[in-house]
Amino acid sequence: MAALNTSSYRIRRLGAADVQPYRAVRLDALLRHPEVFGSSYDEEAQLDDAEFLRMIGQPPNCTLGAFAGIELVGIAGLTVPVRQKQRHKGIIVGVYVVAEHRRAGLARRLVEALIAQARQSSLRVVELAVTVGNQPARRLYYRLGFRTYGIERFALAINDSYLDEELMALVLG
Ligand SMILES: CC(C)(COP(=O)(O)OP(=O)(O)OC[C@H]1O[C@@H](n2cnc3c(N)ncnc32)[C@H](O)[C@@H]1OP(=O)(O)O)[C@@H](O)C(=O)NCCC(=O)NCCS
Repeated sequence: MAALNTSSYRIRRLGAADVQPYRAVRLDALLRHPEVFGSSYDEEAQLDDAEFLRMIGQPPNCTLGAFAGIELVGIAGLTVPVRQKQRHKGIIVGVYVVAEHRRAGLARRLVEALIAQARQSSLRVVELAVTVGNQPARRLYYRLGFRTYGIERFALAINDSYLDEELMALVLG
């Protein structure tokens, strides 16, 4: 299916009724892009719906979905550490748009909505990690104001190779 124009998509928070489509999209992401996510397909393919519901999260954590009609075609999450001294941070995780719906502005809308959510929750900074070399994602975050503050060497191990991650942050006013 060809990408629709931007206004044809809807972004909303996912809940219990979305677990199965969320699971399908998340596993599709891990299978197709092992180099950009911290979790592996093999690990998550074994999890049941209750685990995926836990991943969708409760406030202050949240997962947003982008819908083309009733079809879930994009996901992105925000997690907030539970520790008292780290609760001012939000961490963006699991950003994924299925291939047929890319370059329609969905990832931008998803991440913008997470930033708005972070502001509403009075968070001070939003952080994320991008595999070095993932230019589409890096450009997406850079255009939204994220800046690189470090490189984590050997961040991901995939079979016998290691990938570095660029650590990016957006300080909220
Ligand atoms: C990265 C990804 C999420 C982008 O999703 P998308 O919905 O196509 O992105 P958008 O249409 O919202 O694009 C927003 C900006 O990102 C950048 N971008 C997105 N795709 C790009 C590409 N293929 N090449 C260069 N820049 C790209 C652009 O700056 C773009 O803005 P512009 O179109 O005004 O130039 C998507 O390609 C994807 O799911 N990739 C695989 C998983 C992944 O890498 N996830 C991120 C993990 S950190």
